[in-house]
Amino acid sequence: MNIVILLGAPGSGKGTVAGNLASGNSDLKHVSSGDLLRGAVAKGTPAGVEAKGYMESGKLVPDSLIAQMIKDVVAETTGDVTMLLDGFPRNLAQAKILEEMGAPVTSAVLIDVPDEIIQDRIAGRRTCPKCKAGYHVKNLPPKVDGICDNCGAELTIRKDDNPDTVKDRLAVYHSETEPLIAFYREKGQLKTVAGTDPIETVAKNFLAVM
Ligand code: AP5
Repeated sequence: MNIVILLGAPGSGKGTVAGNLASGNSDLKHVSSGDLLRGAVAKGTPAGVEAKGYMESGKLVPDSLIAQMIKDVVAETTGDVTMLLDGFPRNLAQAKILEEMGAPVTSAVLIDVPDEIIQDRIAGRRTCPKCKAGYHVKNLPPKVDGICDNCGAELTIRKDDNPDTVKDRLAVYHSETEPLIAFYREKGQLKTVAGTDPIETVAKNFLAVM
């Protein structure tokens, strides 16, 4: 197993690219820290109960809480597979935790999107609560308005996707997550793709550099 980290602002397309690449490709495994946390919130586990308030206000959950979930997924992933790790690490402390775990990180790919585009991306996002597929009302619409193409469930809007919380999430990204760009550049592991191209192009370029 090896790990490719996806870096990028909220709404930059990390989940879309990882989902696109991993779908139908058993060599790739998409692991999203946000999906793990939303799953825990939906189930009402102790970790989910603790995480809920942080997530709804756009703050990072405590490092130890999300690190334990990632450790569990890394431990259960074996064989010749590449993990596309989306949303973790989110700050330097989490990057150090990943190193201490001995996680075999081979590269960190930044999906680069300017802040001006982020609000539109997130305002139009629709998510399937059942199979986790992601859509956009203009850029990636489902075949039937409001219904997931894959499983027929009704699409939802994430609670943290309102404009005020998005501003806070972007601020957290710039202050806490952006330092990871220099961290992985210094290790010689940073790659960058433009996230403003069409989705298929971003996915193709991501696969080429990762
Ligand atoms: P998380 O779920 O990780 O959210 P995020 O990083 O804010 O990222 P998003 O899921 O919002 O965006 P994305 O980059 O995946 O974009 P997407 O592909 O959907 O985290 C949520 C919360 O959980 C955090 O705020 C925090 O509280 C907590 N959390 C998670 N991890 C944590 C950690 N490690 N530590 C502490 N707390 C943590 O795309 C967005 C939209 O744009 C979609 O509609 C899509 O269709 C569209 N789109 C995508 N690409 C393109 C394109 N190329 N062209 C046009 N449209 C596009």
